[in-house]
Amino acid sequence: MDVAKRRTLSDESAAPDEALFERIAAGLEQQGYSICPAALPEGLSSALYVEQQQLGARHYRDAGVGRGEAFQTNPFVRSDEICWMGGDSETEQQWRRWAGALQQYLNRRLFLGLFSFESHYAHYRPGDFYKRHVDAFRGQANRVLSLVVYLNPAWNPADGGELVLYRDEQDVEGLRVVPLMGTIVVFLSEEFPHEVRPALRDRYSVAGWYRINATLGDQLDPPR
Ligand code: OGA
Ligand code: MN
Repeated sequence: MDVAKRRTLSDESAAPDEALFERIAAGLEQQGYSICPAALPEGLSSALYVEQQQLGARHYRDAGVGRGEAFQTNPFVRSDEICWMGGDSETEQQWRRWAGALQQYLNRRLFLGLFSFESHYAHYRPGDFYKRHVDAFRGQANRVLSLVVYLNPAWNPADGGELVLYRDEQDVEGLRVVPLMGTIVVFLSEEFPHEVRPALRDRYSVAGWYRINATLGDQLDPPR
């Protein structure tokens, strides 16, 4: 990578987009979610796009549901494949810095007490889906805030694959989000059931979760 490119990347994460973070915070405050099309800094979305396109099949594993010992795959619930991001590459570090800056902003602005962040790439092959679910169960105080960004440079409504975000348990209509490059979706993990509709084409994204510190005594809160 040349010096100019490197400088652009680090400037971008050193001077986070306050206006964007404020928009996300205001959405969370007023309605519990925020949907921002074409909002992720372009240098970051293209770096993530390139890295995900370069991931070989061996990097992915079938996505599952549940954490720790409760983890299991269930192809009736979700059929996508995922690759956890360990922060090993320059791109993953850039993503972590951006997610960390958002975390800091939201903690200051909304006192959310977000403590840690975990994320993975997700690849939905044609026909893959994720049925209606919530990312966290009330009272378990693990995942507090969900963050999804999409990495598909072109997407037609006919391609399917929308995220459908339901406003509450009763909502059957939901809000439909087209998984277009750079779109950011943030929502309170316990409050919003959502699903991924089957797509006709490969669908690429990064999903992440902020958690509060649920460590109790000497029992460490397990990651993931
Ligand atoms: C998830 C999820 C939504 C999406 O991974 O839990 O709901 O649009 N993803 O990819
Ligand atoms: Mn989810």
